[in-house]
Amino acid sequence: MAETILITGGAGFIGSNFIRYILRQAQDDSIRQAQDDTIRQVQDDTIRQAQDDTIRQAQDDIRIVNLDALTYAGNLENLRDIENHQYYKFIHGRIEDSKLVRKIIETENISGIINFAAESHVDRSIIEARPFIDTNIIGTLTLLEAVRDYKLSRFLQISTDEVYGSLGTEGYFTETTPLEPRSPYSASKASADHLVLSFVNTYGINALITRCSNNYGPYQFPEKLIPLMILNALEEKKLPVYGDGLHVRDWIYVEDHCSAIWTVYQKGKSGEVYNVGGRTEKPNMEIVKSILKILNKPDTLIEFVKDRPGHDRRYAIDCTKIEKELGWTRETNLEDGLKSTIQWYLDNPEWCKNVRSGEYMEYYKKQYDK
Ligand code: NAD
Ligand code: TYD
Repeated sequence: MAETILITGGAGFIGSNFIRYILRQAQDDSIRQAQDDTIRQVQDDTIRQAQDDTIRQAQDDIRIVNLDALTYAGNLENLRDIENHQYYKFIHGRIEDSKLVRKIIETENISGIINFAAESHVDRSIIEARPFIDTNIIGTLTLLEAVRDYKLSRFLQISTDEVYGSLGTEGYFTETTPLEPRSPYSASKASADHLVLSFVNTYGINALITRCSNNYGPYQFPEKLIPLMILNALEEKKLPVYGDGLHVRDWIYVEDHCSAIWTVYQKGKSGEVYNVGGRTEKPNMEIVKSILKILNKPDTLIEFVKDRPGHDRRYAIDCTKIEKELGWTRETNLEDGLKSTIQWYLDNPEWCKNVRSGEYMEYYKKQYDK
């Protein structure tokens, strides 16, 4: 029988990459298995048949139900290529809707949940914090109550390194670094993390947390640094760099985050936190200049603008625990990841045009035309 996992927020950036990763992963594993099994067989036809059979078999193992509210950041176009996949189903709704969540668990026979759903942008949390409380805290609580009541076998909370606060020039965040969130976004994510661990301790649910550094890659909404700078550079619009541009982030290619999530979901210990990072610390200016260089655009497009209030200076993740205990490592380096990300935005002008219509322009004006 197929195991059905509820993915929340699967129409967003990381969630949509993760769903694609899981559906493809099942296929890749099965092809590898088919090749091993047929290594002694000589006829191509036999190999092809064996591959077909094992693809069917492996995909039986995992079914995905995606619950997403389709906020400005959620976009069904992110999943167009797999929307008719037989092991995928989309349901429109909010994670705070307890009745809906419970109905899905019952009718879809859900065994576990991976919670990607969130309001995820720091700058928006500075403009208005309340939606972050509703989704990130109340929404997570709603899911946890359902996990407890239906005795689901697994709950994985997708959290962020931002819960640890800001570093000086030295040191790294480890899983035991005290939480010191400094923006409404990170405060809401830290609250959710506390709730998850409190439910493990109080009710004995099976749950765990990943805390990842800054992601980049295909399908990222262009309010975040890398896609915003790529699209502005392509249009030769100014590239707005906050403050002195020397704030440091640790960048990870989204597919490496997806493989870490899947590793933790399968092998992690309940009640544990796993940091995920790219071991690639860079000041913002270096990222922006690399993008301009790849696109062959001048540095004069860079414009220093007013700093973000309470702007965290540096994030840096120590991800030794997931590497040592679960055997995960990141595969894509920044140079390759950035090139393929830029290529993806060049190859998908329709997607870029569609996500930047309407609400995006209003937000952009509010944020940058001050
Ligand atoms: P995103 O903003 O691109 O996507 C969020 C998705 O959640 C959207 O599809 C949106 O429609 C959906 N959503 C929002 N509110 C909802 C609600 N109440 N009910 C159901 N769905 C709702 O975010 P992302 O960048 O893909 O991030 C996914 C998760 O990973 C978030 O929890 C975020 O905190 C975490 N994270 C992100 C990064 C990063 O660099 N992007 C790094 C570490 C952790
Ligand atoms: P962002 O992508 O918003 O991620 P986070 O704040 O969650 O780390 O921003 C990454 C860094 O880039 C952060 O230091 C803020 C900076 N930044 C700019 O300088 N200009 C911009 O227009 C944006 C969106 C971000």
